[in-house]
Amino acid sequence: MDMFKENYYDRLQVLERPGQFFTPEDRLKAAEKPLMAWYKENARELPWRKKPEAYRVWISEIMLQQTRVEAVKPYFERFISELPTVKALAQVEADRLMKLWEGLGYYSRARNLKKAAIEIDGLYDGQLPPSLEKLKKLPGIGSYTAGAVASIAYGIPAPAVDGNVLRVVSRVTASYEDITKQSAKNKMEALIGKVIPKTDPGSYNQALIEIGALVCVPNGSPHCNICPLASLCLARIKGLTGELPVKSGKKERKIVQLTVCIIETNQGILIRKREDQGLLAGLYELPNAEGDLQEKDLGEAFGLENYEVLERLPAAKHIFTHVEWHMNGFRLKAFGKLQESYIPVKEKQLEGEYPLPNAFKAYRKLIQWK
Ligand code: ADE
Repeated sequence: MDMFKENYYDRLQVLERPGQFFTPEDRLKAAEKPLMAWYKENARELPWRKKPEAYRVWISEIMLQQTRVEAVKPYFERFISELPTVKALAQVEADRLMKLWEGLGYYSRARNLKKAAIEIDGLYDGQLPPSLEKLKKLPGIGSYTAGAVASIAYGIPAPAVDGNVLRVVSRVTASYEDITKQSAKNKMEALIGKVIPKTDPGSYNQALIEIGALVCVPNGSPHCNICPLASLCLARIKGLTGELPVKSGKKERKIVQLTVCIIETNQGILIRKREDQGLLAGLYELPNAEGDLQEKDLGEAFGLENYEVLERLPAAKHIFTHVEWHMNGFRLKAFGKLQESYIPVKEKQLEGEYPLPNAFKAYRKLIQWK
């Protein structure tokens, strides 16, 4: 049977009759059957879905915040095989943890994982507590993650409202609430809290997420022709999928100009540890300084007494949530005594020991290892 055939799910839907209007709650209740049937047939096979234990669900949900499913898969497998338990995570060394997270971004997520693991180890004997309220008290676990762990791992009927769910439900109910506002998220949680099924709430939450990722997509037109909720969806019926959900209040990002250097020495390429506070705190970096620096500025900016400029490197850009780095670069050769903050590394050391965030990826690729 072709599950994507148009309106295959129509017969599972309870539809409004003339003169009888659904409340948002009625509409979501009417969506449950076709949604669950669709999910059963169309759920992607993902590593964390195979064995939905609380620890695995937690790690996957934290990785999936701000990062695409395809990118998360290899990180998840590596993380779980190296740190298979809460205890192992609680005891991992900070640099090793950052190395396992290198490239995923939002590194405070990883630091909070370890903090929470220490608490779970101390308070709950290494098991994530099967309680929404206790989960929410752990570092880095907000309402969404707590709901996901509680429902997927423990079958607790708690909502897990992420960006996908906000989009899908805003469209199905034709809501004009601004989904960038916390108040809209709170209302959505309250609404889903009323309709979430008591049997298999984890699949219900994941079905809403999955439909948001595969059908009711964020960029470009949603695929209403294959949507199991099409006949119920008020945004589709009224032709509003282009304007819903409403998202205002996105702040513009600050642009920071940086000059990044690949500095070659006889001992290796120079890297530095970043400050313990702020963006990419505690990670390593290629030497960089603010401004669009020119050759003549490099000695002073990078504290080099004796050096030679080998070449100018291409410009690159990296986008964070609130900041954009616009970078230019140079390849240098430095001689003699160096400032203490510099660490000369060989290829294997950079690969295995020092977490270097993706923001430096464009220049990391240009390193010429000797
Ligand atoms: N995005 C966030 N949580 C997810 C999950 N459990 N499965 C797939 N995509 C997700």
